[in-house]
Amino acid sequence: MNDPVQAVRAFTPQPGVDIPLGITRPLPCFEQSIVDLELGSGTGMFALNYAEQHPERHLIAIEQTVNKFDTFSRAVELQQPPNLTPVHADAALWVERYIPEQSIKRLFILYPNPYPKKKHRNLRWHYMPAMHAILKVLQPGSSITFCTNLRWLVDEAAAQFDKGWHLDLISLGSIQQNSRAPLTRFEKKYLARGETCFELQLRLPE
Ligand SMILES: C[S@@+](CC[C@H](N)C(=O)[O-])C[C@H]1O[C@@H](n2cnc3c(N)ncnc32)[C@H](O)[C@@H]1O
Repeated sequence: MNDPVQAVRAFTPQPGVDIPLGITRPLPCFEQSIVDLELGSGTGMFALNYAEQHPERHLIAIEQTVNKFDTFSRAVELQQPPNLTPVHADAALWVERYIPEQSIKRLFILYPNPYPKKKHRNLRWHYMPAMHAILKVLQPGSSITFCTNLRWLVDEAAAQFDKGWHLDLISLGSIQQNSRAPLTRFEKKYLARGETCFELQLRLPE
């Protein structure tokens, strides 16, 4: 069995690489807003509900797949939430380019692609070089929520975020059908199948 904790090489973006802004709605004023970030928002179920439930905060929600982003973007155009900015981009590049350091209060990584093959291990968020840049945009004391239906993935992420990235591990709990309204489309699908989902809560040290 591989050690789940590994040193991840630093991320050095290629100078001059074009990273489109990918937005149709404005970004918040980072100095004057409480800003949260979602990586891999899919069709936007979590983002739309979260924006509605937290009118005092602003969510930036990034999705890279064209058809998922289009569905998300259409829903945003219909509902016009003033505190939500959907971004069509590869978050691994976009965050470093467009988000100021220490400006995000909550980070959400909900049902990420697991990339189960060993050769794709460094595509999992917790092993990505981009995590260096992602953690830099978080404010000290900010929270990270990581959800998955895979026990091995949540255990691995917990070990790596704790020992590899030195985040504080707050809780690791399970979610069953009817234990809460599903946060995302994937959570809804897994719970409807009777699967258990897992939620990991972490904090960036003060
Ligand atoms: C399994 S889906 C989960 C979607 C949603 N969070 C949910 O739970 O319903 C993972 C999503 O992450 C997106 N994704 C993966 N890597 C990404 C990246 N580097 N930047 C932006 N989105 C990414 C994929 O396109 C996909 O829509």
